[in-house]
Amino acid sequence: MRVLVTGGAGFIGSHTLVELLGQGHHCCVVDSFATSSPEALARVRELTNAPLDAHEADIRDTARLTGIAEEFRPEAVIHFAGLKAVGESAERPVDYYEVNVGGTLSLIRAMEAAGCGRVIFSSSATVYGDPEYLPFDEAHPLKPINVYGQTKAMAERVLSDWAGAAPGRGAVLLRYFNPVGAHASGRIGEDPAGIPSNLMPFLAQVASGERERLSIFGDDYDTPDGTGVRDYIHVVDLARAHVAALGRVAALEGAEPINVGTGRGYSVKEMHAAFSKVVGRELPYEIAPRRAGDIATSVADPSRARERLGWEAAHGIEDMAKSIWAWQSANPRGYRG
Ligand code: UD1
Repeated sequence: MRVLVTGGAGFIGSHTLVELLGQGHHCCVVDSFATSSPEALARVRELTNAPLDAHEADIRDTARLTGIAEEFRPEAVIHFAGLKAVGESAERPVDYYEVNVGGTLSLIRAMEAAGCGRVIFSSSATVYGDPEYLPFDEAHPLKPINVYGQTKAMAERVLSDWAGAAPGRGAVLLRYFNPVGAHASGRIGEDPAGIPSNLMPFLAQVASGERERLSIFGDDYDTPDGTGVRDYIHVVDLARAHVAALGRVAALEGAEPINVGTGRGYSVKEMHAAFSKVVGRELPYEIAPRRAGDIATSVADPSRARERLGWEAAHGIEDMAKSIWAWQSANPRGYRG
């Protein structure tokens, strides 16, 4: 298929491109490179040996985006572009609404101009908020507890209303749990700007000596070892879920939210132990106070993905840890190195 990929140079976008190009899809990337690097696309080309068009453009620039879409004539769009730092979203809410919601509106206008009615959206399990029950299934109420989560829920709403308003439109809303890991080659991976706020990128920087020790945010949660439990999903599995969703969206009428997780949770201490084992030494850590806004446990019910996409996660935490270390040890300063 001809696939327009917004935010293709980012962490999940770059891994998805490798899988798409590997399956023979034709891709065109739109990325502002505001939080990503063109180097990621160079490495995608190197890994796949496939041609890849890329445009430096902001998704809020509807005229520009429309021009690109009209020229490329995508059969489907995968929409990754957006801002994703929870803490920052509280400080810069208007930027988050503008890029994540406004950018989605702008993209829909460009798709309409280009006659494309098929989209896969990069959503997040953060749209659920505090669990009313676990595991989270797609029917769980959406009550996001931070601005970032609000913008994802709003963009889902916009895409659902749009997809339901006319025939020939489909939107698969992929709700990611906790994406981690890297391509096994160590050539592409997660490259956060500044101090990483997520667990695994932070641990990776402890291992490579960029940071002194991990702070474990709370060990008094109601979980088996007291630390937070999450459903970590290997980024290559997540990338393959997008390829599977392309098949689904082609004939879909309306919108369909789908969880992307493994259904299995691991604690912070378990992730720390798994990563320490791969690195070959116990990585230093301290117990710190809870982080505001964190929940004890987040785990997916992944059965809908199995039923509708024929997809399930294949990689376990050892693969996650090994691949992160392959990426981090070869690229301690990310794509800037
Ligand atoms: C975070 C976001 C979520 C986003 C997801 C993307 C928050 C509140 N939520 O989820 O919206 O979709 O990233 O992957 O930021 N931890 C530590 N020390 C650290 C970092 C994290 O102990 O230095 C713990 C956390 O308390 C949590 C677990 O590790 O229990 C995972 O944290 P993180 O990687 O930040 O992901 P989430 O908070 O689940």
